[in-house]
Amino acid sequence: MENIIVKIEEGIAEVIINRPKSLNALNSETLKELGIAIKQISENRDIKVLIITGAGNKAFVAGADITEMKDLNAAQGRELARLAQKVFSDIENMPQVAIAAVNGYALGGGCELSMACDIRVASTKAKFGQPEVNLGITPGFAGTQRLPRLVGKGVAKELIFTTDMIDAKEAYRIGLVNKIYEPEELMIKVKEMSKKIMSKGSYAVSLAKAAVNNGMNMDTESAYNYEADIFGLCFATEDQKEGMKAFVEKRQANFKGC
Ligand code: CAA
Repeated sequence: MENIIVKIEEGIAEVIINRPKSLNALNSETLKELGIAIKQISENRDIKVLIITGAGNKAFVAGADITEMKDLNAAQGRELARLAQKVFSDIENMPQVAIAAVNGYALGGGCELSMACDIRVASTKAKFGQPEVNLGITPGFAGTQRLPRLVGKGVAKELIFTTDMIDAKEAYRIGLVNKIYEPEELMIKVKEMSKKIMSKGSYAVSLAKAAVNNGMNMDTESAYNYEADIFGLCFATEDQKEGMKAFVEKRQANFKGC
């Protein structure tokens, strides 16, 4: 991998977008490498949490790579959008929990990458925005879809139409960010959160992720039914037996993730 770094330690995979000279802008090579890494991590049952962050101290990801995009024709533009959408959907739907550790600019494709993660944790230096219309294009890595689902249609439209860049506090206020920490604390806190999630029944966490993601794409009655199916499925797992037995015996559960 030339554009990303992958570190795996104690059940946590860390993927670092590593193009600091262009503020970690996503070109198609980087997207392809990210796609390969996500596939490998998804298939590795020993990994329970994925953390995505950006190299250097200035940016998470400052968007799609404008130098690569500037000469694209319509078909190539569409192809680039479909490539990124597929990789980001793979992150959204992977069995593990994905956390974006947003350490600086998360603009355009960078904001969109963070939104494909389950949880966004930002440093006080983080800045979010969808500046695409400044360039005469629309958001194309699913920002027109994930942003309104996260912050509501009105606020999403305002951010996209005005291209206003917002700081971490404002991102927290509108519900785009889950937590904010000082830059030096960011990775420590993200790893603490990862370990807390990993101490739970990981199979149940995966199923809960699927229930939220898939249920939100269904009509309400179908989603309730789907939730009940998933709830029922939990009773076929060892973790359910262990979790409830441990509660009754007043001890810590020893989950196996199956
Ligand atoms: N693509 C390519 N290169 C980029 C880039 C991007 N998205 N963002 C920054 N860079 C490069 C700059 O060109 C610059 O390179 P050089 O040193 O070779 O000149 C380097 O990164 C450092 O950037 P700046 O000198 O501009 O740094 P700054 O601190 O003055 O400004 C910034 C930082 C406000 C983030 C500014 O770089 C900027 O506005 N970047 C573009 C942000 C943007 O428009 N992103 C959306 C892209 S479109 C998109 O993402 C579409 C989509 O939906 C997928």
